[in-house]
Amino acid sequence: MNPKKIAAEEAVKLVEDGMIIGLGTGSTAYWAIERIGQRVKEGLRIQSVATSKRSEEQARRLGIPIIPLEDIERIDLTIDGADEADGDRNLIKGGGGALLREKIIATHSKRLVIVADESKTVDTLGRFPLPVEIVSFGANLTLLRLTALEGHPHIRMEGDRPYVTDNGNWIADCRFEAIADAPRLERELNLIPGVVENGLFIGMASSVYVGHADGSVTVQ
Ligand code: A5P
Repeated sequence: MNPKKIAAEEAVKLVEDGMIIGLGTGSTAYWAIERIGQRVKEGLRIQSVATSKRSEEQARRLGIPIIPLEDIERIDLTIDGADEADGDRNLIKGGGGALLREKIIATHSKRLVIVADESKTVDTLGRFPLPVEIVSFGANLTLLRLTALEGHPHIRMEGDRPYVTDNGNWIADCRFEAIADAPRLERELNLIPGVVENGLFIGMASSVYVGHADGSVTVQ
């Protein structure tokens, strides 16, 4: 039993005819998209919007209808993964680098359902390095501000070059270890010029589907 797959497949039961679905990014959201693709082949009628180029490619391969963002008036349900989820369903996201598009889609979704294995559940957010998307211009100066917030930032690399997001930006992974006041940190980070968005998703998730090694799924 793959806990990520069973959590994702359970969440896909929420998808109904006529919905506009936000497709998440990552190795857990992957299984949700696969299952949605199966259901589309069986006759499910939905439209979707993707949070990354790779999820969009997967959806197209599976024949899931994709609509351009500019044509979207509502998103009924988004199913996405997370790097950490606390007991209040606050999240760290962006380990896969898609946090900006994920946050835009999540913000405009009537429901954000998170799918994860149990390794993602934590008491306090922060052990997973918090991804912060920054513009490359003046990145060294932006890093100084992140350092002042005790984020111990490191530019995410791909080989010997900075990793570049779907939006052409860089990611600074910040080691806060334990984030005592996540709403405050989310605001402080986004006030730094050069920061585009950060991976704290506070009060956004409607539910978290957690897959366990024994094949069960619990919903928080
Ligand atoms: C992508 O940018 C992320 O937010 C992912 O949703 C998150 O990293 C979880 O990914 P996995 O499901 O691969 O662990």
